[in-house]
Amino acid sequence: MDQNARPHGFVTKSIHWLSAGLIGYGYLKGLDNVSQLADPALLQFEVTFAIALGALFLVRLLWTQQFGGPTRLPQDAPKWEHFASRMVHIGLYASVFGIVITGLLIALGYATPVLSGLFLSSMIAAHETVLTAMPLLLFAHIAGALWHKVVRRDGVLESMTGSLPV
Ligand code: HEM
Repeated sequence: MDQNARPHGFVTKSIHWLSAGLIGYGYLKGLDNVSQLADPALLQFEVTFAIALGALFLVRLLWTQQFGGPTRLPQDAPKWEHFASRMVHIGLYASVFGIVITGLLIALGYATPVLSGLFLSSMIAAHETVLTAMPLLLFAHIAGALWHKVVRRDGVLESMTGSLPV
């Protein structure tokens, strides 16, 4: 097995840790209730934050696919590791885009009287479902990173942190 996975590039690392920070911030500062959107400044902030987060993840996806390379998992790692890593990465992208899109649709539903019934309540339910799923995926993602650090010792964690494998 490759003991020293090639590091991710500066751009991929920067976007990864910036987006990790924004996700953390989003969870800490997120709204508790849709009625908080009655404050126009807050509504505007939430919409701007959602668009910025969605754009960052879009850039990140395009960057890793076109230039940076999506994974540093060694080619000869077991098939189940390739499968699990791919599923969790796809799940993380899907949940971020899901959170952003349902969040923007909540803002639209809130601001448009004709959409304030079933449309708004289904978007809130969908938003909450994805917000609950993402921490589970992040738990699997971080557990995977630690698995590579402690068990495989193949440099996959270090490919994103920049430190040398121990
Ligand atoms: C302590 C927290 C975190 C650690 C230790 C960590 C670690 C890593 C590592 C080692 C990789 C490279 C995996 C590979 O090359 O196959 C990676 C990639 C990735 N991480 Fe994280 N990560 C963390 C937080 C997050 C957060 C908050 C997100 C947000 C959704 C995230 C989303 C991703 C995605 C989508 C990839 C795939 C490559 C890419 O598109 O950038 N990670 N992470």
